[in-house]
Amino acid sequence: MRREKQREMLERIRERLASKTTDMAPFALQVPASHYVSGEQTEQEIDALFRKRPLLVALTPHLPHPGDYLAHDVIDTALLLVRDQDGKARAYLNACRHRGARIAEGQGHKSSFSCPFHAWNWGLDGKIIARPNSHEGFAAAESRYDELIEVECHETAGLIFVLLEGEGIEAQVDQLVGDVLPDLELFDIPGTVYIDRRSTELACNYKFFLDGFAETYHIAPLHKNSISPFCYSNSTLVDRMREVVHLMSPRKTIDREFEKPAEDQRSPLPYCTTEYLIAPNVLLTHQVDHIQFWRVYPVDGADRCLVELNVFWPGPLDDDAERKAHLNVDLVWDVTTKEDFPQSVSIHSNLASGALPDLVFGRNEPALIYYHQNIARAIGSERLIPSMKSGKTAPSRQWLTRAGDSQQERRGFASERSLPWSINVENM
Ligand code: FES
Ligand SMILES: [Fe+2]
Repeated sequence: MRREKQREMLERIRERLASKTTDMAPFALQVPASHYVSGEQTEQEIDALFRKRPLLVALTPHLPHPGDYLAHDVIDTALLLVRDQDGKARAYLNACRHRGARIAEGQGHKSSFSCPFHAWNWGLDGKIIARPNSHEGFAAAESRYDELIEVECHETAGLIFVLLEGEGIEAQVDQLVGDVLPDLELFDIPGTVYIDRRSTELACNYKFFLDGFAETYHIAPLHKNSISPFCYSNSTLVDRMREVVHLMSPRKTIDREFEKPAEDQRSPLPYCTTEYLIAPNVLLTHQVDHIQFWRVYPVDGADRCLVELNVFWPGPLDDDAERKAHLNVDLVWDVTTKEDFPQSVSIHSNLASGALPDLVFGRNEPALIYYHQNIARAIGSERLIPSMKSGKTAPSRQWLTRAGDSQQERRGFASERSLPWSINVENM
């Protein structure tokens, strides 16, 4: 993030904190239960967003050196990410061209890949090296069995994307994240070191996982005994950057930064959770001094998901930094699994039961509105996020204006009353 932008963001934060407000969307948004629990919609999302758009699957420090690899499944597609001898990140189907076995598992370093089934040996360039003990049995086979199937892959600013269907990944990645690359370059993701990962399956739609990170409105009530004492609740900057939703949420220590005499030395970054919500399934976070990379995939339809956290720390690490980094992985995972994830699961079950017809995002939750609009737009859905005509009263209006008791909560929903309750795909 450029210096000038940092100063601008810091001033916006200062203004928000001083006025006890948060960035607001121009409208509140009603979201029907089907947006989360429909198997048909999930299939549409998988097709449009997971298969036909570039997906951010790894960061450069997953594969820092030639020969480094990462086996990674994108829903039902097993991929093998590899840094080849020339330093290029490449993606192959993790499927041997003999009879389809996975040629590698996990993460590590190899000079070549030996298939566990019959020991065909594959190079980092995806080409066959040897078929041991095959008695020339494949000499007459077509040459396509000599190469792993390659998937389009593009690496930029420390991000590694793949494209499962279609072509032109570089232009598509630029379309998706071009606006955030200057921010990310400052974070020097390639200079960070992979620390560790955690993963779990949750009984909820994959979008609920991201919803939990797209607002700070819940910090004070839900995290009152964990992170709330350190973080401001419901004072967050939110910007749309093409398909990415950008959030900056300050910690209470940011007050110190405002006291620095030289304005050009002030930066919000060491005092903020700086998030990039990249539809459909990634949350990339610069957290004070390190990087958290969250990915989520639907599992077997609408009602389950697989969440994974990867943590990266600025390198090189001494022993103290390494201890701190590992402790951080445990702390983050502890808070999210004990406090955030149970909410996602309980909301999903209420919607899936059919008892709850819809839910609503307030104007004070703009990142949620923008993220879900991105999803709806990608699948061409107007019916899934219905338009409510100007002047009509939302069915749950009374419930909305009664709900909660904080000043900021009232402000978030009350302002909506003076606006037309209106949203459709043209507003996106
Ligand atoms: S399946 Fe890989 S060598 Fe047979
Ligand atoms: Fe949370």
